[in-house]
Formats: sequence, structure tokens, C-alpha cells
Amino acid sequence: MQNFIFQSPTKFIFGKETEYKVGKEVKRYTNKVLFHYGGGSIKKSGLYDRVVKSLQEEGIEFVELSGVQPNPRLSMVRKGIQICKKEEIFFILAVGGGSVIDSAKAIAAGMCYAGDVWDLFEGKAKLSQALPIGVILTLPATGSEASNSTVITNEEGWYKKGYHSDLIRPKFAIMNPELTFTLPSYQTASGVSDIMAHVMERYFTNEPNVDFTDRLCEATLKCMIKNLPIALKNPKDYAARAEIMWAGTIAHNGLLGTGRVEDWASHKIEHELSAIYDVTHGAGLAVIFPAWMKYVYKNNIGKFAQFAVRVWDIEPDFDDLEGTILKAIQKTKNFFQQCGCPTTLKELNIPEDRLEEMSEKCTQKGPIGGLVKLYKEDVLNIYHLAQ
Ligand code: NZQ
Ligand code: ZN
Repeated sequence: MQNFIFQSPTKFIFGKETEYKVGKEVKRYTNKVLFHYGGGSIKKSGLYDRVVKSLQEEGIEFVELSGVQPNPRLSMVRKGIQICKKEEIFFILAVGGGSVIDSAKAIAAGMCYAGDVWDLFEGKAKLSQALPIGVILTLPATGSEASNSTVITNEEGWYKKGYHSDLIRPKFAIMNPELTFTLPSYQTASGVSDIMAHVMERYFTNEPNVDFTDRLCEATLKCMIKNLPIALKNPKDYAARAEIMWAGTIAHNGLLGTGRVEDWASHKIEHELSAIYDVTHGAGLAVIFPAWMKYVYKNNIGKFAQFAVRVWDIEPDFDDLEGTILKAIQKTKNFFQQCGCPTTLKELNIPEDRLEEMSEKCTQKGPIGGLVKLYKEDVLNIYHLAQ
């Protein structure tokens, strides 16, 4: 196990009706917020009214900025920064899924940087502070409610890039599983695919002696395999929704990656898809992850065999461990398929013509992946395997 520093400072307020506490939580920081949300799901569900009521009860003034799109855009972030400067707002309240939270984080970071906020995503600048943000989560998937990252798409050239800093971890995350009852099944399944990918990006490592976190990863994966079909069958099953919501946070707050080298190639390969074709991130991962597994498993037969046995309960064939592993990869793919996720690029309507360009963009800064280093040709091969 490697040395590590792990800090997860977010305060989690979990359970039924917790959104009513938002006013009190915000009050600890400020009397004025940017109330940031997406395309309107919070109005349909009635959450918007409850948030407004709670803010008003505490005398908190708010300026609204709605319309965050899935795969959030840089132009919206710039608009948010402008509003915050003009209105002298120093706290962002994000109500929604990962896209809204990421947009809020980018505004919070951009407010503390004199240059253009995109510089941060290009690694051209480092920050020493960011505005505080608070979250009410409506979609368990990205783990952004506690993670140190924000992923933004620059419409000029369709680049999707991440910025990572502990400074942008939310101060609090309000998590009421009931708020996820309204999620369409495609978003529910894509969300769980993302959660499982966050675990697997950490699980598949060459680092020895990480048994504790291996077991946590396996438990998280098994828990998702059990609970996603329940939530799909009965969207109002509180118990299943709660398991998924909490697992989504733990899958990506950094705990499961402690002491190990993480991979992240599949995420980078997927981000090229959602940058250009605007696909749902978790759906893209359901396509890419099994293809990546097929391409790299020979580099760590032991780890992939452990995955087969412990996560998918496959009886190992010691004379043919590769066969055991291929069964596990197939089971992973079947699971996503049965839950309504696409598992091929064709199903996502992604043609062949830009695969080369995406492979190039993906490896622009050098090879990707912690388990195996992947170059442009490897990424292209993985796209072909995913067709
Ligand atoms: O915009 P509204 O109307 O709210 O609708 C949203 C949106 O259309 C809808 N939705 C959210 N909660 C709902 C709901 N519909 C009904 N009921 C609810 N309770 O769902 C749609 C998708 O929302 P979005 O926020 O885009 O989804 P998600 O949470 O999956 O976020 C995806 C983004 O996060 C990035 C992804 O790349 C993608 O851009 N990621 C962020 C990470 C991070 N910051 O740590 C890590 C991830 O790996 C990921 O890259
Ligand atoms: Zn993800």
C-alpha cells in the first residue's frame, strides 16, 4: 500500500426530508447565494419550491441561474462568474445532478482566479482558494457531491476536461433518496454504471497489498448489482435508492482509491464520446468499460480473476483463468444490457469517422491509464472493440 493523504471534508446530511435543512446550512456561510440548477426537473418534482421556502425562512437572498445542460458547458460557467461578480455573491448552491454541481464548482473556482476559468482545466494555473459551495443531490452517479473534481465541456472545439482540487469539495451535501424517485430508468441505470466505473477505475491496479480497499470495492459493486434491478423495477423503493445514493458518494470521494495507483483510462476514453456526441456519461462508460477490460486484462490476470470470483461469484478454472475472466467481462456487459444501458457504440449512434480524432485528443498529453499505459493506437483499438 502506498502512502496517502485523504481528506473528505463534506458534511453529509442524508435521509428523508433533509432538503428542508438547506436554509439553515447555507446560513452558516452567507446571506446571499447563487441558486444554480438544471433544465427544470426540480420544478416538476416540487423540490424548487421547498428550497425557496427554506432559504426564505432563513432570510437568505438568492439569484437564480438555471439551464445547466448535461455535460455542462463553459459558457454557462462564465455566465455564472459574471453574475456572482456583479451581484457580489460568494456562495453557490447547486441543486441537481453532477452537471449542476460541476458547473457550480467551476464558478466557485473561477471566481477566485483573475484569468479565464478555462486555464484551470488546461492546467495553466493553480488556485489557493475557491468559493464555498453547497449541494442538494438529485441524481446519484458522479459522486461530485463529495469529489474534488469538476468536468466541463468547452464548446469551442468540444473539449471535455476536468479540474481537480480539494478546494472545490462541497461544504455540505444534502442527500434525500426520495428525490431520486422521479429519475427516468435510463438515468438511474446510467448513474449506477458511473458509480461502478468509479469503483473499477480504482479496483484494477497493480498495487499489491490493498486487500482492505479491494474488499470495500467488491462490496460496493455487489451492492449496486443487487440494488439497481430493484430500483428499476420499483422506482419508489426507498431502501434500494438509499443504497445507491450513499454508494455513489463513497465510490468517488477518494476513500476507495487510498493507497493505490488508480487507472482512469476508461473515463478519459468516454469523455471524448460525451464531448462530441453529448451522450450520457454513465451510458458511455457501459460501452467503454467492458471493451477496456477485454483489451487490458492480460496485464493483470490475478486481479481480473479475483474480480470474476469475488464480484460475479464465478467458479475459477485454474487451467483456464482467461476463460474465467472473459466470463466475468461478459457478465458485466450483460448486467448493463439487462438494466437498459447501451453496450456498443452503434447503440449510441456513434459512427466510425471520428474515432481516430477522439483517440488523438484523448492521448494529446501522453499515454493514459494507471494499470496499463495506453497510447493513441490502443485507444483506437478499444473504440473498435466497443463497436
Ligand atoms: O437538468 P434537469 O432538468 O435537472 O434534468 C437532469 C438531466 O437532464 C435529470 N435529472 C437529474 N435529477 C433528476 C433528473 N430527472 C428527474 N428526476 C431527478 N431527480 O438527469 C439528467 C442528467 O443530469 P446530469 O447532472 O447531467 O447527470 P449526472 O449526474 O450523471 O452528471 C454527469 C456529468 O458529470 C460528469 C460527467 O462527465 C457529466 O458531465 N462527471 C463528474 C464527476 C465529478 N465531478 O467528480 C465525475 C464523473 O466521472 C463524471 O465525469
Ligand atoms: Zn464517472
